[in-house]
Amino acid sequence: MMDLKSVMEILFLKFVKRFKMVELEGVPLIKDTVEQWDAIWNFKARPDDLLICTYPKAGTTWVQEIVDMVQQGGDLQKCARAPIYERMPFLEMCPPKPIRTGFEEAEAMPSPRTLKSHLPVHLLPRSFWEQNCKIIYVARNAKDNAVSYFHYHRMNKLLPEPGNWDEFLENFIAGKVAWGSWFDHVQHWWEAKDRHPILYLFYEDMKEDPAREIQKVAQFLGIELTEPVLNRIVQHTQFDSMKTNPMVNYTTLPPAVLDHNISPFMRKGIVGDWKELFTEAQRKRLDDACARLLAGSGLTFRAQL
Ligand code: A3P
Repeated sequence: MMDLKSVMEILFLKFVKRFKMVELEGVPLIKDTVEQWDAIWNFKARPDDLLICTYPKAGTTWVQEIVDMVQQGGDLQKCARAPIYERMPFLEMCPPKPIRTGFEEAEAMPSPRTLKSHLPVHLLPRSFWEQNCKIIYVARNAKDNAVSYFHYHRMNKLLPEPGNWDEFLENFIAGKVAWGSWFDHVQHWWEAKDRHPILYLFYEDMKEDPAREIQKVAQFLGIELTEPVLNRIVQHTQFDSMKTNPMVNYTTLPPAVLDHNISPFMRKGIVGDWKELFTEAQRKRLDDACARLLAGSGLTFRAQL
């Protein structure tokens, strides 16, 4: 019997080159996702589902592990039961058959479920709104988010070639990357929190004071944490611990898919890494775009601590 990793390696090497992107209602998505769109759009959320939603590279995996630790009362063994992508299905991910899609994984999962998505507000299946599901959203400042996404495109052999940094940044600003415009994403989710139970977190706040942000998560989920459990969660979910934890660092996926030698999934995990890559002109261009496109939203970001 071959393990899942080997099966995936063969499948990906044989059948999948890079994912093609197709626009759906103005948002570039992976073609396979768009081909399955009817099933995704009609996904049946359950009232006790928790959804973790982010723009890619905003700290999804980090908050996923925090949420699981909170839900499991800080039990390390329970959180090591499976890689994070098996514990929390990625709703709109559609790998080649026979690997199950994210929504199929979710359908097969008993309640209560925690699911992951990168969908923008207008593409989230309606049942999440109808069922009034709790949602945790994480946003990260545009500059660090763009840098992280660029390196992720370099190491993820399924995403489109990023080109050089300058080209990638232009595509990022234009919203011509997978899951679309960062500006629309963070802003529409920010607005949605006024009419729906959404905990809107910031990557920078989590870096600044993880214990405070973990407490917010616990409160939102209606779970009380004792001091020792909170401390354990802080320790277990800090960057250095997660970097070496195979259940969250994505080293369990085949190197044909994610090549950590090019850039590790757990890359730097800091605020302000953008300074290594941005020219002054690029910084001004993205800052101007933020000022213009987020004007009046009340949404502000910190790009250094
Ligand atoms: P960098 O590429 O800037 O290092 P996602 O999970 O949404 O794909 O986000 C990945 C980004 O979150 C990467 O950013 C990764 O290093 C960072 N990250 C993951 N776990 C983290 C943690 N425990 N603390 C801080 N950053 C973390």
